[in-house]
Amino acid sequence: MKYQYTKEFRHNLVEWFNHEKRDLPWRHTSDPYKIWVSEVMLQQTRVDTVIPYYNRFLEKYPTIHDLAYAPQEELLKMWEGLGYYSRARNLQAGVKEVVEKYNSVVPDNRHDISKLKGVGPYTAGAILSIAYQKPEHAVDGNVMRVLSRVLHIEEDIAQPKTRRVFEEAVEMLIDEQHPGDFNQALMDLGAMICTPTSPKCLLCPVRDYCIAFNEGKADQLPVKSKKVKTKKVQFKVFAAVDEEGRYLIEKRPSEGLLADMWQFPMIEINENSLSEETLQQNYNVEISGYIDKELLEFKHIFSHLTWEMECMQVKVVQKMDLPENVLFLTLEQIRTLPMPVPMLKILNVLN
Ligand code: ADE
Repeated sequence: MKYQYTKEFRHNLVEWFNHEKRDLPWRHTSDPYKIWVSEVMLQQTRVDTVIPYYNRFLEKYPTIHDLAYAPQEELLKMWEGLGYYSRARNLQAGVKEVVEKYNSVVPDNRHDISKLKGVGPYTAGAILSIAYQKPEHAVDGNVMRVLSRVLHIEEDIAQPKTRRVFEEAVEMLIDEQHPGDFNQALMDLGAMICTPTSPKCLLCPVRDYCIAFNEGKADQLPVKSKKVKTKKVQFKVFAAVDEEGRYLIEKRPSEGLLADMWQFPMIEINENSLSEETLQQNYNVEISGYIDKELLEFKHIFSHLTWEMECMQVKVVQKMDLPENVLFLTLEQIRTLPMPVPMLKILNVLN
């Protein structure tokens, strides 16, 4: 790649970062464990959302050892609301490996750190550059957007293979003296100035070295092909309460979406069967009618899937042997369990 402004770009970017960087809690530490936690939380979640989670998480698990041996249910409760819960499970598995295999010292090279559970090329580069000052690339969607404009790269950023192009670009541009600042400066520039729509080029510290700006094309980049529409699934969800005010609740399987989290029973709506009957058959209970047939209706959008939820409150009059991982609990007890956001919404309207 030919680019004639490497030095100027690098210098202006890092200078700008020194003056304008966001004051974020993980920028007050160089502990690789804490940087790791922050980077995992930030992977699919906005900075503003992450801040309180990060603070609470590190109060609860101040050292790598505390997290390595935390009970999984407690960990999921700490992560509750952040979504993508396998991130929490993988983080814990990775951290445990560091405690047991590396004497609690997070590896400081890409080869070893990349073998840890949940540590992909981005997370590896972020930890290495921010905590250890190694000149390693950390390329996420923001960085691809910024560099697609600066270097006028027209490759489709929705394609996994395109990432390598940007990793090489960072290798060329990175400030070897301040690699952590350089990588985080790209992230902040992407968040504050070089935004997806209406980039604020007039405020940009590297505008003079931005090929797309100079060609008047900043708003046409990056090239990103549309992803296919997410699949929709419709469910009836039952807040099924017994005479003592306890609700039917079940733990999801240990594999797959929202593994090991708790939920109210949800039955996929199917033309050929009545959800109420399926509920009684699957959970071995008898229900006698509705307390509230229209308790709540909402959609929950995952990255690849949308749940359309129709929730009702029903009365349970009989229970036979309950299946495995199914319990009747009070609302107070249920509130201590890790639950995905759509289930918390339902929990919130019950009292
Ligand atoms: N997004 C991901 N990592 C980040 C970081 N270290 N600072 C700001 N935004 C980020």
